[in-house]
Parts: sequence; structure tokens; C-alpha cells
Amino acid sequence: MNEGAVEKTVEIETPEGTFTIRLSTDDLGFVYPDMLRYTIEILHGARPVYTYAINSYEVPPGSLFEAGRVAGIVFARLADDVRSRPEIYTRKRVLVRPLPDRGVYDLVILQGSPRKFGNSALAASWCDDEAGRAGLSSRIFYIHEMEIRPCIGCYVCYNDGHCPIDDDMPRIIRAIESASLVVVCTPVYTNTVPAGLKAVMDRCQWLHAREKILGKEVHARGLAIAVAGQEGMEPFACVTPVVDAFMKNLGIQPAGAVLFGGLDRIRDIRRIEGAEGEVRSALRALLGSMAER
Ligand SMILES: Cc1cc2nc3c(=O)[nH]c(=O)nc-3n(C[C@H](O)[C@H](O)[C@H](O)COP(=O)(O)O)c2cc1C
Repeated sequence: MNEGAVEKTVEIETPEGTFTIRLSTDDLGFVYPDMLRYTIEILHGARPVYTYAINSYEVPPGSLFEAGRVAGIVFARLADDVRSRPEIYTRKRVLVRPLPDRGVYDLVILQGSPRKFGNSALAASWCDDEAGRAGLSSRIFYIHEMEIRPCIGCYVCYNDGHCPIDDDMPRIIRAIESASLVVVCTPVYTNTVPAGLKAVMDRCQWLHAREKILGKEVHARGLAIAVAGQEGMEPFACVTPVVDAFMKNLGIQPAGAVLFGGLDRIRDIRRIEGAEGEVRSALRALLGSMAER
């Protein structure tokens, strides 16, 4: 049951028993400035059977109605509906998809290149192998092979910690939420990460919402591994802050970056002397520091 301030309550007697409809508000100003959540719950007797929520960030500026007004209208419509067909509300109506209960790993690797056997994928496989050698479970997510749609900025995840988009993202959310280490392996595409990986990063706003609304914290440390065509460090000027921002937003502690430029010329990371060793030792160092904690 929602703990917010109760704004309005109505009791409805029906042949199916007594229903209570309650509208409450929560001040989510601790998440974003002026964020308010309106929650309407229907109880059959004392049992919650249906919940609707809307927050002020869901409603863009310029909309016909603000969120409080929408909540008022939904409240009235639900009251009418309960009166006219109470039998619909005698059983619990759960309209959210829970996260999968399987798919938990010590190490989660987000492999952002569309090239399944490219440089980022090779770096990912070295990390995966190191985890195996350390007796840890790991999982490489080949982002390009998954169905991940972009974030639509609906802010619905701040209502109850669930994203309304139905795709493969829950597997990644479940995995990151329970991982000890998250590695992002990515090529530089137009100075940043490829679109598919960027979509995953944006959709992980969902994890931010789960932390704020449900208290589900991410406890992982993070490592970035990036490859670029051009020589030197310049191609990484944008990509490293992007990966950093992604991690910090989720409470993942970034533990540095391993960067390889100059791949336009040689195309194959295996031809960069010491690259494999550098990736493996960066991961080993992280695994070692985690074991000490
Ligand atoms: C669409 C596209 C955009 C790219 N943009 C950049 C860039 O901005 N800077 C750069 O140095 N390399 C750029 N590259 C080169 C890749 O970063 C480089 O080939 C990398 O090694 C590919 O990694 P992968 O094998 O993991 O896919 C780009 C490549 C592609 C296909």
C-alpha cells in the first residue's frame, strides 16, 4: 500500500462487496526537483487489487492537463468503473512485468560493437575468460543481437520501478543490479559509443529509478575498454566521459579505462603488442581489489 499523503478516498458498496478507492501523493523532490507522484489504489475489502500511478515528469510542458488533474480524472473514471462492473476488480490485476528471476552474474560485460568477432568482442572474451579463471560467473551481452528499444523519456519507471517497454532490457537490468563488476567494451563511433549501446545506457535510467523508488542499489565497480580507428587519445575524449557518466548515474564506481587507438591501420587488436595482457591485467587487478574488500 502506498505510504504517501492521502488526498481523496471514496468507499463504494457493490454486490461484490465494499471497494475503497484512494488517491495519494508522494513528494519525489529527492529524485528530481518538484517531482510529484500521484497514486490511485483500489482495495477490495482490505486487499489492494489495482494500482495506477502518474508523476509530474511524465507530463511534458504544454500538455492539456498536468499530472494532478489527470489523476483526478482517472480517480473519477475508476470509481465509475468499479460501480458499473465490480466483478472486474474482485481479483488482483497486476499490470507490470517483473524482472526475470534468473540471470545473475559476478561479471557483466556489455559488448557494444555490432561486430560479433571484432576488437571490442575480443576484449570482451578476454574479460570473460579472466572471470572464469578466477572462478567467477560472467556473461557477455552482445547488445547488437538483442532487441533493445531507445528510452522514450516517459518517466514511468519513477512510478513503481518498472519500465513499460517490452523488450530484452529486463535481462540487462537484472544482471547489472546484482553484478559485482560491469565492463563496457565499445568501439568509438563518431566520437562516442554505437547507437545500440547508447540505447542500453539510456534505458539504464530504469536502474536509477529502481534505486530511488525501490532502494535497489547497484554495488558494482566498472571498467571501460574502448577501441578506435584513429591514433592517439583524441578519439576517446568523448567516449570515456560518456561511459563514466553512465556508470556514475547508476552508482557504479568507475575503476579506469583501457584504450586502444590506431585500429584503422591494423584493424585487429590482437596485432597491438601487449593489448591482451593489458586487458587481462586490468580485469585481474579489479577482481583482486574486490576480493580484498
Ligand atoms: C560508424 C563508425 C564510426 C566510427 N567513428 C570513429 C570515430 O569517431 N573515431 C575513431 O577513431 N574511429 C571511429 N570508427 C572506427 C572504429 O572505432 C574502429 O574500427 C574499431 O576498431 C571498431 O571496433 P570493433 O571491431 O569492436 O567494431 C568508426 C567506425 C564506424 C563503423
